[in-house]
Amino acid sequence: MGFPHPPHPRETQVLSRWFGDAEARTYAGWIKRGGYAALEQALGMTREQVIEEVKTSGLRGRGGAGFPAGVKWSFMPRQKTKAHYLCCNADESEPGTFKDREIMRWTPHQLLEGCAIAAYAIQAEQVFLYIRGEFTEPLRIMQAALDEAYARGVLGANAMGKGVRIDITIHRGAGAYICGEETALMNSIEGKRGNPRIRPPFPAAVGVFGCPTTINNVETLSSVPHIIARGGAWYKGLSLSSPKSTGTKLFSICGTVARPGNYEVTMGFPLKELLLDLAGGMRPGRTLKAVIPGGSSVPILTAEEAMDTLLDYEGCVAKGTMLGSGGMIVLDDSVDMVYQVMRLARFYAHESCAQCTQCREGTAWTVKILQRILGGEGRPADLDVLLDLSEQMTGRTICVLSDSCAAPVVSAIRKFRPEFERYLGHGKAAARA
Ligand SMILES: Cc1cc2nc3c(=O)[nH]c(=O)nc-3n(C[C@H](O)[C@H](O)[C@H](O)COP(=O)(O)O)c2cc1C
Repeated sequence: MGFPHPPHPRETQVLSRWFGDAEARTYAGWIKRGGYAALEQALGMTREQVIEEVKTSGLRGRGGAGFPAGVKWSFMPRQKTKAHYLCCNADESEPGTFKDREIMRWTPHQLLEGCAIAAYAIQAEQVFLYIRGEFTEPLRIMQAALDEAYARGVLGANAMGKGVRIDITIHRGAGAYICGEETALMNSIEGKRGNPRIRPPFPAAVGVFGCPTTINNVETLSSVPHIIARGGAWYKGLSLSSPKSTGTKLFSICGTVARPGNYEVTMGFPLKELLLDLAGGMRPGRTLKAVIPGGSSVPILTAEEAMDTLLDYEGCVAKGTMLGSGGMIVLDDSVDMVYQVMRLARFYAHESCAQCTQCREGTAWTVKILQRILGGEGRPADLDVLLDLSEQMTGRTICVLSDSCAAPVVSAIRKFRPEFERYLGHGKAAARA
């Protein structure tokens, strides 16, 4: 999954255009490819004009929730009375999602440029780039690019020689999934335990160190230089479906497909074509069973549903699921759905910060019950207990980690119930027979 595949003719490569090209990692290489021209352009615009351009583009957050980026930026106070901060979320720990690390590995200056433009727009003189602790190589590459950007005067007290202060600091996480949640990330930057905060107050009012803060995902911010350079209207035009879902999106495809990897396509691209044409379909002799389309935190689609899904925010909602981060986990007919769901639940139980009872207890009990079922000691009422438990875990906690555990469990039981029932009372051996 590390090295990028050769571009597929059906991809629309905007963010991934220079993936695989090591020269693009350097300042000189980035300049040769037109880099930092968008930052220079943005610094010649008013802050309001930059925000308007991003609003026009229709760019929505690529970290999972899909909130419009320009609208989020406009929540920051216009009259600055305190420091303003921008956080770039590079924590990328969602199972099945591996796009942000590729952006950082191949085009670190693309991300720095996006961060600098956003920082200018929201009047943030300080950007925190929060990188997942395990990302050793992306960290090294980002730090080298950052050092070069400072050395060349792109960043600092007089960014690009335009009299604007833009500082970017890398903050290394310690490998906790919960620190990708925006307010937990802010606590982590402050040196506190990474527990999500209750909202309101929202980060645009009270964020890092009590100051107005905006947080955006790596892919979101990396899209910004292209929007400034080519115009919001151009970006908005990149859509095969709804005007509410615009631009290109990097989809990470993993699991039981022939060619796993990152593919960049226009919003609204059919999931079927992404799976069969770009990712090469199933391995020989296997058939598609299910797809989890938005990282692991969303309802599972059956093969039939997946074949009829358009990859955009609305298309996924229409099928009862979510686009999320765009990490797609593909499952073929060899996959044991009960085991698969237990593995996912175990991840959430391990990563729960344990602050909310419904999450701490709910994720742990979900695992216990699923393991009991897998061990052949399931009780007839177990499936109803799991559904009831999942309901108690949804919409009742400070953040949505608990909901994220419940969503795949509920959809798996609803859509693949006979697989669960085969285990009940018969033991694992019988269920597999
Ligand atoms: C448990 C949890 C983990 C998350 N992990 C990430 C992550 O690793 N990266 C990310 O960009 N967003 C993550 N998010 C979403 C962030 O809270 C936030 O919505 C996002 O960084 C906003 O950026 P965007 O608007 O550009 O998408 C997570 C959310 C939750 C609830």
